[in-house]
Amino acid sequence: TQYQKGVKHLYDNGIEHVPRKYILPASERPNVVNERSRDATNHVNLKLPIIDFSELQGPNRSQVLTSLASACENYGFFQLVNHGIPHEIISNMVDVSKRFFELPFSEREKYMSADIGSPVRYGTSYNQTNDGVFCWRDFLKLVCHPLPDLLPHWPSSPLDFRKLAVRYVKEVKFLFLMLVDAILESLGLMNKKKTTEEDEDEDEIKEILKEFEDGSQLMVMNCYPPCPQPDLTLGMPPHSDYGFLTLLLQDEVKGLQIQHKENWVTVEPIPGSFVVNVGDHLEIFSNGRYKSVLHRVLVNSMNYRISVASLHSLPFKSKVQPCPKLISETNPRRYMDTDFATFLDYIKSRDSTKKSFLQSRK
Ligand code: SIN
Ligand code: FE2
Repeated sequence: TQYQKGVKHLYDNGIEHVPRKYILPASERPNVVNERSRDATNHVNLKLPIIDFSELQGPNRSQVLTSLASACENYGFFQLVNHGIPHEIISNMVDVSKRFFELPFSEREKYMSADIGSPVRYGTSYNQTNDGVFCWRDFLKLVCHPLPDLLPHWPSSPLDFRKLAVRYVKEVKFLFLMLVDAILESLGLMNKKKTTEEDEDEDEIKEILKEFEDGSQLMVMNCYPPCPQPDLTLGMPPHSDYGFLTLLLQDEVKGLQIQHKENWVTVEPIPGSFVVNVGDHLEIFSNGRYKSVLHRVLVNSMNYRISVASLHSLPFKSKVQPCPKLISETNPRRYMDTDFATFLDYIKSRDSTKKSFLQSRK
């Protein structure tokens, strides 16, 4: 049907009304008034905590780690500035994503796949085989690790796609590893003092870091074309991310909202920065100290919006479990173990407008 070709296709064909397939039940639409705050929920804007990555490398590291911990506990999100990835690599990545979505449908269609485990998947909505109501989003999803095996499957047009995406993927992976290091330290898992027992601790942390070096990385490029009736639908339904951390680039067009104190609040774009969020795996690993927060995407009638999300976690085969050091008599284990296979089964059977995966792990 028309819908399976995605929303870029609908928009290019000049539709003036949102087809029924995209219309959310009234209570799930973006502008419903929150009973508690009596405010149309998307009128609340939020300044997310800002973490200056360059400061993490200097004498203020411990203060920045405190801010990082507080951001992960209270918001599940922060904006990362001065991250050191050259501006050109980032702007090229956003630009080549835009150019991919501008290719003729026949070219994009080559990468369509119903298999959600496919190394390359172009698609629309969230999971177009299951979604009862579709969302206003087309996407290209690339599995990025191990890169040499996967690269030959990536789109070969635009001609510079692979070259630019590879540069970006490598830089983001490096940044992710530096962030994991900071996050483990912010959870109190790295002890810089030297006693025998603590040496053992350090070895354990080094093991975890090594696992992440060989960990999973997925890149998702999202395209949200202008929508003629943005109050009736969403670009992405409320969800939490299932990995350890997500590093998101959004262009200058607003749209991302996160749930904060029972409101949906809009994340103001800061050009060139990353929006970083705690995923389900980090919530589980931290035994609930850091929060994997629900977020969603609004669309608008004026502008295209492009975002590029890089999702990172342990290797696909690893078990995810609360860190033994973060479990104690006063803070008992709060989550069951999980793994990617469980998550994939869950996604396959699920309608995207329903509850988050994490809820099923408690
Ligand atoms: C996402 O939640 O993965 C994408 C968010 C966005 O497009 O801003
Ligand atoms: Fe997300």
